[in-house]
Amino acid sequence: MESSCRILVLISGNGSNLQAIIDGCCDNLQADIVGVISNNPDAYGLIRAHQNEIDTSCVIPHQGESRGEYDARLDAVIARYQPDLIVLAGFMRILSHQLVEKYQGRMINIHPSLLPKYPGLNTHARAIEAGDSEHGASVHFVIPALDAGPVILQAKVPVYEDDTPELLAQRVQEQEHAIYPLVVKWFSQGRLTMKNTEAWLDGELIGPSGYAPD
Ligand code: GAR
Repeated sequence: MESSCRILVLISGNGSNLQAIIDGCCDNLQADIVGVISNNPDAYGLIRAHQNEIDTSCVIPHQGESRGEYDARLDAVIARYQPDLIVLAGFMRILSHQLVEKYQGRMINIHPSLLPKYPGLNTHARAIEAGDSEHGASVHFVIPALDAGPVILQAKVPVYEDDTPELLAQRVQEQEHAIYPLVVKWFSQGRLTMKNTEAWLDGELIGPSGYAPD
C-alpha cells in the first residue's frame, strides 16, 4: 500500500481492542485510524477515540428498523471515511450479507474463541462447560456466514479447573490485544490478503488454525 492504510474501527463497548490498535498504530506508520463508529452512544471506546483525537460517529439503531435499513445507514457513514480496512472490534451486531459482500477482503473481526469452535455468543462459558483445556481468540476475515471467515491468527490460553467465564475472558482479552494490532499491521503493510475465501500472508496460504510460523 503506497499511502497510509485508512483504518476504520467499529465498536459497541469498552474498546480495549480499539485501544490496543491505537497503541499499535503509534509505531506503524503505514496505518492511520481515520474513524471509529459505534452503534452504542455510551460505548467507552468513543472516549478512547476522543482522547486520541480520532473522529467518531454513532449510528444508533431505530426502533422497528430492519437490519437492511440499519446497514444502509451504517454504510453511508462508513463511506464518508473511505476506509481501506474495516476492523470490527467488539461490534455486537450481525451485518447483512450485502454489507459484508461489499467489503469482503477488507473487513476483519476478532472473536473470543478458537474458531471454528463456538461461533456466536457466550464463548467463555461454553468452553468451560465443554471441559476444554484450551480456549482463545481468533482474528478472521469477515464473510456473510457468522464467524466463519478464514482465520488469520489465533492465540490460545489455558482453561483452569476453577475458571469462571470472567477470569477466562480476561485471559483471552490479553491475547486479543497482542494479536489484533499485529494483523492490522500485516494488512496495512500489504502483506495480508483474502482470495477465494482463503487468507494469504506474504504469498503463502494461511492454514485453518491461522498463521503459524515454521
Ligand atoms: C472482545 O473480547 C471481542 O473478542 C468480543 O467482544 C469483546 C470486545 O471487547 N467480540 C465478540 O464477541 C464478537 N462476536 P472490547 O470492546 O474491550 O474490545
